[in-house]
Amino acid sequence: MTTTVTVDLPGRPYDVVVGSGAVTALASMLPASSRRIALVTQDGIPCDIATGLPTEVIAIGQGETVKTMTTVEALAERFAAMGLTRGDVVVAVGGGMVTDLAGFAASTWHRGVTVVHVATSLLAMVDAAIGGKTGVNLASGKNLVGTFWQPAGVICDLDALATLPARELRSGNGEMAKYHFLTGDDLTVLDLEARVARCVEIKAAAVVADERESGSRALLNYGHTLAHALEIATHHEFTHGEAVAVGLVFAARLAAATGRIDEARVEEHRRVVVDEYGLDDRLPDGLDPDELVALMARDKKAIDGLTFVLDGPGGLDVVRGISPDAVRATLAGMRRR
Ligand SMILES: NC(=O)c1ccc[n+]([C@@H]2O[C@H](COP(=O)([O-])OP(=O)(O)OC[C@H]3O[C@@H](n4cnc5c(N)ncnc54)[C@H](O)[C@@H]3O)[C@@H](O)[C@H]2O)c1
Ligand SMILES: [Zn+2]
Repeated sequence: MTTTVTVDLPGRPYDVVVGSGAVTALASMLPASSRRIALVTQDGIPCDIATGLPTEVIAIGQGETVKTMTTVEALAERFAAMGLTRGDVVVAVGGGMVTDLAGFAASTWHRGVTVVHVATSLLAMVDAAIGGKTGVNLASGKNLVGTFWQPAGVICDLDALATLPARELRSGNGEMAKYHFLTGDDLTVLDLEARVARCVEIKAAAVVADERESGSRALLNYGHTLAHALEIATHHEFTHGEAVAVGLVFAARLAAATGRIDEARVEEHRRVVVDEYGLDDRLPDGLDPDELVALMARDKKAIDGLTFVLDGPGGLDVVRGISPDAVRATLAGMRRR
């Protein structure tokens, strides 16, 4: 049994199929015009996929340091060598790094070739593979170069999670905790298939409402302003989801400091992040608060000064013009590891 969630974008809806054995739906997502497949993945990712078409497997390296334009260029050279045409298809099999990179490469190859994502990490299933944001890092920041390129379909085969390291599974929980505060849903009462499908639904609704992030889609960045700064300041010692966990509790404390929520709501954040999702909400010792503030001000979502998604009486909101002093004071009050 699988669950299908449709990302109902006007004129180009696509399905996200969630469940054990969902990968059998892949063939139905390939365009009729495709004669061959460029399958982008990484070593260590389960990839026994019957595509039914000649398939070139291209393995990229590991870690955010290879999520770069150089890797995109190497992918494009492989596409050229195999003669990938605009009618063919790129299939990304992996976590968010693979889907972001392969999605970007697909969006620029011959000015755009179809991509299908087979998400194999929990984080990619509930977040990264859905919604069409692709991107690569620059030395100056994460995901600074990217495109919007919606996939033709997404597979979230829960069987793939059997080989996912425990730390990476927990990392996916960081994004799930985010969805808890976006909607107020208690996802922990659902079984895994229902929980992943519900996250996909929440993400899909945000994407359909505001595909290009000119407004409400920015709420998906809850917890992410500090998270991105932490990832850079610690040279990716944190996984993305681990950084989001700290970022969510930080954002709650900042919202309390600016009078938007009360202490009970801050405690609710800590309870969900730490007790329910098993994540660590503590800030590492030894980080320079001024460096974190500088990184947060540079975050591409910062339009004028420091901008955060903050909780409030009416739910989450994008709040601009937060003073660096309030940010520093809130950082100083965070628990340390
Ligand atoms: N485009 C978006 O909307 C969006 C949203 C959130 C995050 N992201 C991006 O996603 C990336 C993080 O994604 P991630 O957390 O999946 O990390 P990741 O892609 O780096 O994967 C983490 C590790 O798990 C391994 N792995 C993945 N699936 C596996 C499996 N089934 N079995 C064994 N090993 C497996 C990978 O090889 C890697 O070593 C970041 O680059 C982030 O910027 C993008
Ligand atoms: Zn994220």
